[in-house]
Amino acid sequence: MIKNSEFVARRERLIAALDNNSVAIVPAAVELTRSRDTEFPFRQDSDFFYLTGFKEPDAVLVLTKDRDGNAQSTLFCRNKDKVAEIWHGRRMGYEQAKVQLELDQTFALSELDDELLNLVNGRKVLFYGQGTYDAFDDKVWQLLNTLRGAPKKGYRAPEIIKDIRPLVHEMRLFKSDAEVALMREAGKISAQAHVRAMQFAKPGATEYQLEAEIHHHYAMNGARHPAYGTIVGGGINATILHYTDNCDVLKDGDLVLIDSGCELEGYAADITRTFPVNGKFSEAQSKIYNLVLAAQQAAFEAVKPGSTLVKANQAAMKVLTQGLVDLGILAGDVDELVAAQACKAFYMHGLGHWLGLDVHDVGEYKLDEADRPFEPGMVLTIEPGLYFDEEAQVPDEYKGIGIRIEDDLLITESGFENLTVQVPKTIAEIEALMNN
Ligand code: GLY
Ligand code: MN
Ligand code: MN
Repeated sequence: MIKNSEFVARRERLIAALDNNSVAIVPAAVELTRSRDTEFPFRQDSDFFYLTGFKEPDAVLVLTKDRDGNAQSTLFCRNKDKVAEIWHGRRMGYEQAKVQLELDQTFALSELDDELLNLVNGRKVLFYGQGTYDAFDDKVWQLLNTLRGAPKKGYRAPEIIKDIRPLVHEMRLFKSDAEVALMREAGKISAQAHVRAMQFAKPGATEYQLEAEIHHHYAMNGARHPAYGTIVGGGINATILHYTDNCDVLKDGDLVLIDSGCELEGYAADITRTFPVNGKFSEAQSKIYNLVLAAQQAAFEAVKPGSTLVKANQAAMKVLTQGLVDLGILAGDVDELVAAQACKAFYMHGLGHWLGLDVHDVGEYKLDEADRPFEPGMVLTIEPGLYFDEEAQVPDEYKGIGIRIEDDLLITESGFENLTVQVPKTIAEIEALMNN
């Protein structure tokens, strides 16, 4: 759990970065219809959650900073409503929210239009992240037009509109001790779930049964939802990078690729393992598997403060390219093939991404024009892969093989901590687990 004091401190840090005489508006996520009168499970907006810890839809955070730098935090949220709560569930209500979330003032959502006008009126700068919630964008633009349209009433609209997201996202890139503790736990639960799937797998089982094993383990350990659509791809399905149909029967002699991580208190894990359905790698599968594993290991060696994702990817691509030449899949001079990124024919995605509240988490990958150096507190995935579909220009024995190996690394002062180290990864470890 993240303590409320941390959410308060985040708002204070954000306010410190705002201009004097400004206002920042951050809306919550909206509920989405699944069919007729049922909704998709609600997931809070990550920026809004990062700044409030509040899990209800239909809320708005407003931070104001006056000319002298005095700040005020305001939350609008749903009213307490007996009938709505009998039908749909509990609401915190604005009176309780003020106390529990330690805000300066709170209002019922029904006050939003009038009070937001007062909060924005006369401020020079508006910080807002447009383009995510259409209906809320319309509300903000209408409010600005109202302010612009009635100067005689004393209304004045902000002259400058700035995107608030770069400020929030830079904060989110560096994880606090409490965030790291949650991500370590999310990594552990997800790792155990992958172990469970390896133990369950057998020819004749279905992809969705493995998915069910994994999701069961998440929920039984306090993480009710996966952080993204779980991928369970048997055989050729593993060559579809974001395969989520998960509807096929697993076949003897095939590999199965599982890319899955849980979401714990908002924070994601993101693990991929690839293993044989019958518990024994074939010779061709072993060759490709060990090559991807070696590429991941080479990338790991380039994960430390001061290094970059691009450097780690170059290390991985060098190993992949050399290996593909050794296997007769690529031909030519290794350095030239690396420069030409020839391995990209079979490794179509990036090496990894920031990880946090979002699985593909926020944060810049470049600072000015330069690749961003790693710093302690960042969390990222390292996930090389090789994918040979039916049409790949490779010997027949490799066709239909898709392998990715993915772990989550926290950058530390001296290098990294692997948050997902508990899932077996070498061929010997995987075969031992599956055959015991
Ligand atoms: N699970 C999506 C990814 O690995 O990026
Ligand atoms: Mn990933
Ligand atoms: Mn993944």
